[in-house]
Amino acid sequence: MSAPTPLPTDRSIVVTGGASGIGLAVTTLLLSEGVPVAVLDRDASALARLRDAHPGARLLAQEVSVTDAAAVDRAVERAAKELAPLWGVVTCAGIVRDRTILKMTEEDWRAVLDVNLSGTFFALRAGALRMKELGGGRMVAIASIVGLRGGFGQANYAASKAGVVAVVETAAREFGKHGITVNAIAPGFVRTPMTAKYGETLEEACKAESPLGTVCEPEDIARSVRYLLSPEAGHITGVVLRVDGGQAIGA
Ligand SMILES: NC(=O)c1ccc[n+]([C@@H]2O[C@H](COP(=O)([O-])OP(=O)(O)OC[C@H]3O[C@@H](n4cnc5c(N)ncnc54)[C@H](O)[C@@H]3O)[C@@H](O)[C@H]2O)c1
Repeated sequence: MSAPTPLPTDRSIVVTGGASGIGLAVTTLLLSEGVPVAVLDRDASALARLRDAHPGARLLAQEVSVTDAAAVDRAVERAAKELAPLWGVVTCAGIVRDRTILKMTEEDWRAVLDVNLSGTFFALRAGALRMKELGGGRMVAIASIVGLRGGFGQANYAASKAGVVAVVETAAREFGKHGITVNAIAPGFVRTPMTAKYGETLEEACKAESPLGTVCEPEDIARSVRYLLSPEAGHITGVVLRVDGGQAIGA
């Protein structure tokens, strides 16, 4: 048994939603290992901060909404041409618009499905189109334990994340012949700008639900993503890895 091999540095990785929270932690970890990273995010000022934080890095930070399939396709093509042939795609772009079902508007429903589910589909498809001739690669989609067990006030979000799992399992079946693995990570509560708005009550409730009694940081998720991106994870495909401190054991 030999020591783990590093991530390839002659291949690039696309990270959607890579300018904040979990995506930012993934981007930062990959750049620290010399991996060329293409970030697709809709937040121009967060992208500017990211560029400023990594002068000289092999980083292509592009302002793109993952809901725009053609724009995603162009951005992934640019990454493959300007950085390096693609090794992986990590989908972290996501939003919440919480309301109970009886109060949820059509707009709330569609907006969350559009970003979380359609956005994941567009990014994985754009990546696979470029990766299928390259002899292999890795895809990791960020789902959620809410997609496995529902969440009060989160019908739109839960449906989108359950859909992400279905896309991942399908993509794993379809892309396996190209040597591409496709997996999902289902985090529980993670301390990020997305969850800051819920305040300390939710954080404490999630902590209490975890047998470890700890709160997950974005870097915890990033390390799991890194593992699934690694050459070592080549025999793992179609799984949903809960990284939730045990919050949803049995889900
Ligand atoms: N924070 C948690 O507790 C938690 C738990 C489970 C799953 N997740 C999932 O993890 C992922 C990252 O969440 P986070 O907590 O880091 O949130 P975040 O808000 O910190 O980051 C999300 C990023 O996605 C980007 N984004 C949103 N809509 C976009 C669009 N249409 N096109 C491109 N980029 C877009 C935002 O600009 C932002 O940079 C999401 O998919 C979220 O659902 C988060």
